[in-house]
Amino acid sequence: MASNPASSNAPLLAATQQQAERHYLQAFGQPAQWCVAAPGRVNLIGEHTDYNDGFVLPMAIERYVVIAAGPGKVGHPPAATIRSVDLQESFTVPLNQPPQPGNVAWSSYLAGVIAGFLDRGEALPAFNAVVHSSVPLGGGLSSSAALEVATATLLESILATSLDPSAKALLCQQAEHRFANVPCGIMDQFSSVFGQADVLMLLDCRSRHLQPIPFTSPAVTVLIVNSNVRHELTGGEYAARRRQCEAAAQALGSASLRDTTATMLAASSRQMDEVAYRRARHVLTENERTLQAAEAIRMQDWPTAGKLMYASHASLRDDFEVSCDELDCLVAIAEQIGIAGGVFGARMTGGGFGGCVVSLVNTDAVAAITETIYTHYTAQTGIEPTTFATRPARGSHVLR
Ligand code: GLA
Repeated sequence: MASNPASSNAPLLAATQQQAERHYLQAFGQPAQWCVAAPGRVNLIGEHTDYNDGFVLPMAIERYVVIAAGPGKVGHPPAATIRSVDLQESFTVPLNQPPQPGNVAWSSYLAGVIAGFLDRGEALPAFNAVVHSSVPLGGGLSSSAALEVATATLLESILATSLDPSAKALLCQQAEHRFANVPCGIMDQFSSVFGQADVLMLLDCRSRHLQPIPFTSPAVTVLIVNSNVRHELTGGEYAARRRQCEAAAQALGSASLRDTTATMLAASSRQMDEVAYRRARHVLTENERTLQAAEAIRMQDWPTAGKLMYASHASLRDDFEVSCDELDCLVAIAEQIGIAGGVFGARMTGGGFGGCVVSLVNTDAVAAITETIYTHYTAQTGIEPTTFATRPARGSHVLR
């Protein structure tokens, strides 16, 4: 079983950097000149609210995409050759004009960000790079946003410039829209850029105002359990949810669900399509829960925060229909362990349809909780879960 106590996470970034740089030297015969990191994220609460101009409460996690790079051979046109250590694949992209979207592959995320820089009129010189990641793929922990933000951070280093951090996150979001065909909101890329140690980010996705919520109590830990059911957002369900929310807002006479209220929704319930009604009800109640949870966490009222997490899960399962049996099973096990066993609350996190459950737990009970979850989940589903504990981590930054 892969479970790490929170304290063992700190050396992980250093190890990922070392491996990326070693692979760079092997692949390109020179030591890397630049090295950057960007984290994945976990969302404590506020799911499927970001593209509805609502509230989210994510944090960056101690799992990073690291890119080591150096100057490439001068040539015409200049080109970038990028190798993935994890997938053992390379690709080369000319840098004289913006790459165009094609079939979605790991390279699409890098190509999308390169296109964003070239579209801004930046002239990129030839470079070589090696990508290595400790963010689980397809786990709903934003491995793709971490890859985009790491790429943008690398290009900033190569160009010896810094983009405005919000503009950088938005450029990465555009890469996801255009090159991965996922019409995502801003949460993942903002989390990867703005993450801070010991801080949850209460982000108003309309104004893009970010309010830091301190998360400093050593007694409470964020425990992430991967159902190891692969989460796939490119499959169309995500885009369908987004369209349903837009249709619901329209039916309520508003441009966005952020402008609607529970009273408006109740008044229109008879005229509205039943599915649109439930989608809207999730978004409206989730925004409320997110604000309440941020306040509860600020007050270190863990039982209240936990209750809101369970309510969020139920709403995502029943009204928004983005959970799955395995995620429901993990949340049910957490609920059975309960506060007496050290679990305050748990819910699915990220886009859904698989991926991870996030829980707030008593630090002292992490090992026992992990054991119980492992035993029960494996017995009920035949799948082994992967768990890790994490503190809120630092956002994208330069390592070399
Ligand atoms: C994915 C998207 C985010 C957000 C979540 C659901 O992670 O990339 O923008 O919509 O799903 O909250």
